[in-house]
Amino acid sequence: MRAVILAGGTGSRLRPLTNLINKHLLPVGEQPMISHAVNKLRQAGVTDILIITSRSAAGMFTAYLGSGDSEGVALTYKVQEQAGGIAEALALAEGFVGLDDKFIVLLGDNLFEDPLKPHIEAFRQQKDGAMVLLKEVHDPERYGVPVFTGDGSRIERIEEKPENPSSSFCVTGIYMYDASVFDRVRAIEPSARGELEITDVNNAYAADGKLSSRKLEGWWTDAGTFDSLYEASARMRGARG
Ligand code: G1P
Repeated sequence: MRAVILAGGTGSRLRPLTNLINKHLLPVGEQPMISHAVNKLRQAGVTDILIITSRSAAGMFTAYLGSGDSEGVALTYKVQEQAGGIAEALALAEGFVGLDDKFIVLLGDNLFEDPLKPHIEAFRQQKDGAMVLLKEVHDPERYGVPVFTGDGSRIERIEEKPENPSSSFCVTGIYMYDASVFDRVRAIEPSARGELEITDVNNAYAADGKLSSRKLEGWWTDAGTFDSLYEASARMRGARG
């Protein structure tokens, strides 16, 4: 299975740290943030990785990670010209992922403890569709939040940053898709903030009854704000990572 790490964006909530440096190159524990996503994939046996980042940051990514040789992975890079949303960035992966292939997408600012392998294996067993990984959090209103069907057996839809979250779970930035994702991205419209939202893509799968989910057991945090960046750093220091 191939992987895509999304590492673009403006990092606006981390200014001024991100005025010059892409968020995913900021230190988390003892390494730049991006290394944790690369490590997690390699540990799961996923070594063919596409990194999508912004025009201004691409040079620093290649300078730091190069071909990926020293990390035991094979890296490809693509540039997202404008910050048009996670789903817009994902669309750039179409040529990298085979026509019939399943693949995994990581938001580069998601840091977590769980090994990816069991989740990837579960998705391999799934006939088609998509899978999201969930985590119970104390502030679900900051994230995409799943609304479960009455019997709790599957996700009916995901609400993006709801004022009144219907559960205490968040949809983490770890997604697995079949190749129909690219047609689904083409079918969605920009949201009120002018971006192609990953939640709309996931909801297209949910509407077809093709969105499954699993829960993360270990700690998880995004690192898009000062508080979460420090939390991620402390966790990673603890893990000597
Ligand atoms: C994005 C997604 C959201 C998800 C989160 C995980 O939010 O839109 O559904 O829960 O990543 O990190 P953003 O961080 O772009 O606001």
